Amino acid sequence: MTVGLQIAIDGPASAGKSTVAKLVAKQLHYTYCDTGAMYRALTLAAMQAKVDLHDEAAVLAILAKITISFKPGEPQQVFVNTQEVTQAIRQPDVTNNVSTIAALAGVRRQLVQHQQMIAKKGAIVMDGRDIGTAVLPQAAVKIFLVASVAERAQRRYAENIGKGINTPLAVLQEEIEVRDKKDSTRAISPLTQAKDAVLVDTTALSIEQVVARIIAITVEKQKDHK
Ligand code: CDP
Ligand code: CDP
Repeated sequence: MTVGLQIAIDGPASAGKSTVAKLVAKQLHYTYCDTGAMYRALTLAAMQAKVDLHDEAAVLAILAKITISFKPGEPQQVFVNTQEVTQAIRQPDVTNNVSTIAALAGVRRQLVQHQQMIAKKGAIVMDGRDIGTAVLPQAAVKIFLVASVAERAQRRYAENIGKGINTPLAVLQEEIEVRDKKDSTRAISPLTQAKDAVLVDTTALSIEQVVARIIAITVEKQKDHK
């Protein structure tokens, strides 16, 4: 019997975290939890409610509107009240505002607590910015995924074209740089590589190669946890 470990995947925007995390979870029959979706859902709800995104008390007051649903074998679903917003939270205006909400201390406290509860039983792949450092500091497997900013902008560009969105590559690159800067320089739980995380540079790697690397690291760790 193998033990269900906690796998923490962190890194900057568009490094491939969610794509890879989903595939690793599927292969291991683990639950996948996208923590960015929680910050995004709260951003969308705050924007819909026309709340000042810097006003922590006002933002916290709408936290109860957000629900994340996990059903075994199905993708994570996100709701604001009863409205399903799994796709809507990927809109560019949400993307460009989310780092403001994510910098609020009270918001992070509440969401981190919730994420820790979800991960408690193990057998989970969780991705975000502070999973290895703040949410699951005891995670058995910690991965820090990076890629050059040009490659990450190119990936977002290709993804957008597939969705019929035509934002120029240079604009996407700038948006990514701005968000990375905000996420890496905020006072609370900034994006940083945990000391015990394995750095994986995906610039020249395929999705399959990255998944294989993480699975290999996990299989090694499982031997220690038997
Ligand atoms: O997928 P992408 O890299 O664009 O971002 P995401 O994972 O959906 O996260 C959106 C934003 O939420 C990030 O830019 C961070 O500001 C914030 N976030 C965070 O602060 N902590 C996390 N654990 C996850 C996301
Ligand atoms: O979650 P995060 O923002 O880190 O990135 P993502 O949304 O998983 O990946 C951004 C895009 O890069 C997706 O369209 C992936 O298919 C693509 N990707 C890639 O081309 N090569 C990789 N090694 C990883 C991701």
